[in-house]
Amino acid sequence: MHFSQFFLAAAAIAPTLAQLSGSVGPLTSHATKTAKKTCNVLSYGAKADKSTDLGPPLLAAFKACKTGGTVVIPSGNYAMKTWVTFEGGKAWALQLDGVIYRTGTAAGNMLFIRNANDFEMFSSTGKGAMQGLGYQDHKNGKRNGARLLRVEKSTNFSVHDIILVDAPMFHFVMNTCTNGEAYNMAIRGGDWGGLDGVDVTGTNIWVHDIMVTNKDECVTVKSPSKNILIENIYCNWSGGCAIGSLGTGTAISSVVYKNIYTWKSNQMMMVKSNGGSGYVEDVVFENFIGHSNAWSLDIDQKWASMSTIAGNGVHLSNMTFNNWKGTVANGAARGPVKVVCADKTPCTDITITDLSMWTETGSRNTYQCASGYGKGFCLKKGTGASYAATTSTQTAVPTAHAAAKMKEDLKTAFGISSSIPIPTMPASFYPGTPPISKLAT
Ligand SMILES: *[C@@H]1O[C@H](CO)[C@@H](O)[C@H](O)[C@H]1NC(C)=O
Ligand SMILES: *[C@@H]1O[C@H](CO)[C@@H](O)[C@H](O)[C@H]1NC(C)=O
Ligand SMILES: *[C@@H]1O[C@H](CO)[C@@H](O)[C@H](O)[C@H]1NC(C)=O
Repeated sequence: MHFSQFFLAAAAIAPTLAQLSGSVGPLTSHATKTAKKTCNVLSYGAKADKSTDLGPPLLAAFKACKTGGTVVIPSGNYAMKTWVTFEGGKAWALQLDGVIYRTGTAAGNMLFIRNANDFEMFSSTGKGAMQGLGYQDHKNGKRNGARLLRVEKSTNFSVHDIILVDAPMFHFVMNTCTNGEAYNMAIRGGDWGGLDGVDVTGTNIWVHDIMVTNKDECVTVKSPSKNILIENIYCNWSGGCAIGSLGTGTAISSVVYKNIYTWKSNQMMMVKSNGGSGYVEDVVFENFIGHSNAWSLDIDQKWASMSTIAGNGVHLSNMTFNNWKGTVANGAARGPVKVVCADKTPCTDITITDLSMWTETGSRNTYQCASGYGKGFCLKKGTGASYAATTSTQTAVPTAHAAAKMKEDLKTAFGISSSIPIPTMPASFYPGTPPISKLAT
């Protein structure tokens, strides 16, 4: 790239990184760990024969390397019948270059990293994958089986260049983590609710360059969370990104979502609750492109898909939506802006700037606000009491709504009744934007 472009890019990156409260990722490189000690699962009884249970050899390899070293699952196809909890490792890495096929039927987490410090999970080739074969459950109406990957109560870690496919339940959960980074991942699940892509709770977490195909959460932040930066996300036929669902004592602050491309999803961004208490504040949603989605900007504090929780509502304040472009599936039925706040706790300081989206069907957009205060569209200025939903209609095509499409947008959903192929890593996760860290090859 030219120098001028370089400086523009550097200038654009610097302020948002400040969103994080410190450095993220492992404290020592995987090369250093590998040099110290390498625990190859093949030396602990694993076989790349797609039938021997990888569980016990993987746990044995972890025990040998958990105080410093790299556990290696070399390329090849492995069966996993029993799940592994990696408890309390320090200065260790998990190098997944092979493909793990689920053969067990337990619920829980296939790979569960807990209380780790200075941890890295990665594929050196970008081809390491977990194939959950969730369709075997889903076609029978079952979706409470295993999650593929869970990192919990861990700090100073990264997960990258891994592919996760067809989880029986969720694909990737980071729960109560600090100083974490997840990037360069392709996640592809069944076309059904409840099969979340990435769910995050924690402090100081950077999630970037991730593609999700499914029918529920793309990359979602849950409570409690603070200092979260999410960027370059490709929701390639998904439920869409969200904050929530929010319950009692919600505590979410300092979250930035930027460069989010959403195609054929339920929404581009949803903040969802129904009752509850606490707050979500100091949040920025910037550079969003959407096409063919049902909802776009969707704040719904009377979310009907959730039963009402006790409390006057979660207070949403200081939320900025800036530079949203593209088209919505049906602007008259579900317009680009829906801000429905809690009546007993109106939203304050909601700012919507440079949002320009048009409809793919018909020639009309509606904008709906209830109990929301701030600037932009139908929001009321200042602060004040609850107010009933107001709807405004736009019939003039907004200027500058045009936005790029990704050429690889998924044309037909994978459904839930047959095996979902393992994808390759996409070259980019947001139009015109290379991944922040080079993809492993
Ligand atoms: C995680 O890393 C930070 C430095 O980035 C360090 O201050 C902190 O003590 C580390 N956490 C633990 C549990 O060692
Ligand atoms: C609003 O949130 C942004 C983004 O986190 C932050 O930079 C700003 O200081 C907040 N404003 C106020 C008044 O707290
Ligand atoms: C989106 O999904 C389709 C179908 O799986 C795939 O061909 C395409 O590569 C995906 N896009 C990206 C950027 O990965």
